Amino acid sequence: MRLCFLVEEQYRYDGMPVDVIRQLASWGHRVDVLRPGSSLIRLSETVRAGDHDAWVLKTVSGGPGLTLLEAAASVGLTTVNDARSIRGVRDKALAAVTAESRGLPVPRTWAAARAVDFAELPASAFPLVVKPADGSSGRAVRLVEDPGQLLTPADGITTDADSPGGMLIAQPYVPNSGVDLKVYCVDGELYATERRSPLHPDRPARERQVPLTAEVAAIATEVGSAYGLDLYGVDIVFGPDGPVVVDVNDFPSFRQVPDAVARVAWAILRLASTGPEAPARPLPGPPALIPAPAPAAGGHA
Ligand SMILES: Nc1ncnc2c1ncn2[C@@H]1O[C@H](COP(=O)(O)OP(=O)(O)O)[C@@H](O)[C@H]1O
Ligand SMILES: [Mg+2]
Repeated sequence: MRLCFLVEEQYRYDGMPVDVIRQLASWGHRVDVLRPGSSLIRLSETVRAGDHDAWVLKTVSGGPGLTLLEAAASVGLTTVNDARSIRGVRDKALAAVTAESRGLPVPRTWAAARAVDFAELPASAFPLVVKPADGSSGRAVRLVEDPGQLLTPADGITTDADSPGGMLIAQPYVPNSGVDLKVYCVDGELYATERRSPLHPDRPARERQVPLTAEVAAIATEVGSAYGLDLYGVDIVFGPDGPVVVDVNDFPSFRQVPDAVARVAWAILRLASTGPEAPARPLPGPPALIPAPAPAAGGHA
């Protein structure tokens, strides 16, 4: 197959996606890599070249990659994940409304352009978690104990510098043990990894794969269908009333997922061959978790 990966600077040397790209190449597929954060993009030529079976996005929220992926989708190219679905989770304000309307367990969410506006919320909403609507990797996520912290710029919570021109969201802090459950979905399979919450840097840093409960699996599956994502991660914290979804990510790190590189590479091939615009082209055989012959897909490699 012929694939085009959009990779931003932040992930230039990351195993996810660099090793996935290597894996695909070792299976005989052609993978072109575009770095939208560090190169001149000849828009029409790039998108309309049109000889890729699918475009794959591994970029930061708010970065330039998503626009290019949407451009590819707009001329009918297959994208992994679906470009509209990515937009739906990368804006956390939009994502919160979708989740709530689907009955997913999510914290109540407010939005504002200035952190100071959250000071109007009732005292019962505090402590609050304030985060940029287009944030990722824990960037600028803050715990705000009381409205006073929003009114005094000295403590660094006025977030003009964190989200210039962008929206912020605020949610009540869900009391939890300080350990997140990261649930990853790849090729229809779910995996769960425990990881320390960035709001609890005092907790031990141990990170490990853990079994999924049926309740969490059902939530993670519903997240995939609510947003229309194929390759995704869900951040869950366990509060007094059970699991709560605090974040959804397209193309996450898949850390601790066994054979993550081969699984993700395989999932991309499968999605690329069955994209919305493309007729389904069957891939032979079960998922190959070690370097294996390229699945025959339309006779080109
Ligand atoms: N409402 C919340 N209650 C408790 N913890 C939260 C809440 N929102 C976020 N967190 C914690 O902050 C972390 C980062 O927030 P998240 O929404 O995942 O943003 P990012 O996109 O930066 O990963 C989460 O993994 C979780 O540990
Ligand atoms: Mg997160």
